Amino acid sequence: MNKKEKKQLMDEMSAELSALKKSPLYKYRTENNYLPVVGEGDLSAKIMFIGEAPGRNEAKTGRPFCGSAGKILDELLLATGHKREDVFVTNIVKDRPPENRDPSPEEIKIYGPFLDRQIDLIRPKVIATLGRYSMKYILEKFGLHSELKPISEMHGKYLEAKAPYGKIKIAVLYHPCVAIYNRSKMPDLKKDFKILTKLS
Ligand code: URA
Repeated sequence: MNKKEKKQLMDEMSAELSALKKSPLYKYRTENNYLPVVGEGDLSAKIMFIGEAPGRNEAKTGRPFCGSAGKILDELLLATGHKREDVFVTNIVKDRPPENRDPSPEEIKIYGPFLDRQIDLIRPKVIATLGRYSMKYILEKFGLHSELKPISEMHGKYLEAKAPYGKIKIAVLYHPCVAIYNRSKMPDLKKDFKILTKLS
């Protein structure tokens, strides 16, 4: 599939998400003039980052990781030698949950298939999960349930998996939010992100 076709499919997904009335987050989005956050970046990226759900800045602009967590993500990316435009960044849940609460199982069930379609379209060689929700969703999706442990034991590691389009690596990373209120975590996060330099 060429980039134009991929872009068209992504635009179609955007339109579907805008009209997703069955989502429990639809009403909250429209009442607040928020936007769904589909994802952003290279549609043929080798690395795909998957966060949790958009925050306020993201829902206002329709762009993933554009607030304080995004600044940290950019800093971490820089340490790995990658630029934002060379990777693809998205979330499991595409609408902002009220008060930035954790996504519910129902929301993950509704938005998960959109993420699945994005993975099939981009065909990344490396999927980098940001935080425990993303780690759980991706490990389960690729049949690695038995490998699941608390993120405190998994972070900084990678697992091999089989996607329909070939072998992939799943890099398990802490969510960049961890460093928003605790900058002293930054060296640990940078160390974990360095595995991406090795994998890509
Ligand atoms: N946190 C996330 O998980 N995703 C975003 O897009 C922003 C903050």
